[in-house]
Amino acid sequence: GKKEEAAPAAAAASAPPPPPPAKVYVIGTDAAYAPFESQNEKGEIVGFSMDILTAVAAKGGFEIKFVNTPWEGIFNSLQQGDRDALISSITITDERKQTMDFSAPYFDAEQLIAVKETSKVAKFGDLKKLKVGVQTGTTGDEVVTKLLGKTSTNVKRFESTPLALKELQSGGVDAVVADNGVVIHYVANNPADKFKTVADKTSFAPEQYGIAVKKGNTELLEKINKGLADIKADGSYDKIFATYFGA
Ligand code: ARG
Repeated sequence: GKKEEAAPAAAAASAPPPPPPAKVYVIGTDAAYAPFESQNEKGEIVGFSMDILTAVAAKGGFEIKFVNTPWEGIFNSLQQGDRDALISSITITDERKQTMDFSAPYFDAEQLIAVKETSKVAKFGDLKKLKVGVQTGTTGDEVVTKLLGKTSTNVKRFESTPLALKELQSGGVDAVVADNGVVIHYVANNPADKFKTVADKTSFAPEQYGIAVKKGNTELLEKINKGLADIKADGSYDKIFATYFGA
């Protein structure tokens, strides 16, 4: 009858409009940097950085998706708008601050040397005449290039830090310089390689990791900073930290 026909129209008119699909922020990461960012057997991107940003997004009520992004093109992917943000153990530097904006620091790091157990290297300066492996365009690359000289053919640059460490294993380089967390993790998990770490507090400046957004993207940056402050205040940051690095 007439009544039944009128009912759906009335219901539709009074129903609230469907919500717009939630924006999913695309997060770039070079997932070859355990324990910060890596891929598990299933190909999922996992690690300390993922847990941190996932907790931040949950607090802020926004959605994220991690996309594996090679380090060499990672800053460009942000510039091009292919990624909304980057979390990739990125050290905040004055130079990088000129082309992108960084969140508040979320992790302290420094460079650390990996050598074979039998190596006589005791300090950074000992690398001066040796072959040293680094990941291209990292802060490790910067300090090693400075020590060995811009034109030195002894600086061996690799697409990823695991490739540099593989070269140390096969003897193609005498040392690798990379972020301490990654070097410690690798040496501890690959005893068959017989590597050891050499720290040098006086040669390496303290570094801090930040989450990068495109210059001027204050909307996302504020959400991230608010979430970071929240997870630090409520203890969830410390919990995640303890899971990966001990209390
Ligand atoms: N912290 C160093 C830098 O910013 C290395 C970061 C490398 N990260 C990565 N996921 N491969 O240069």
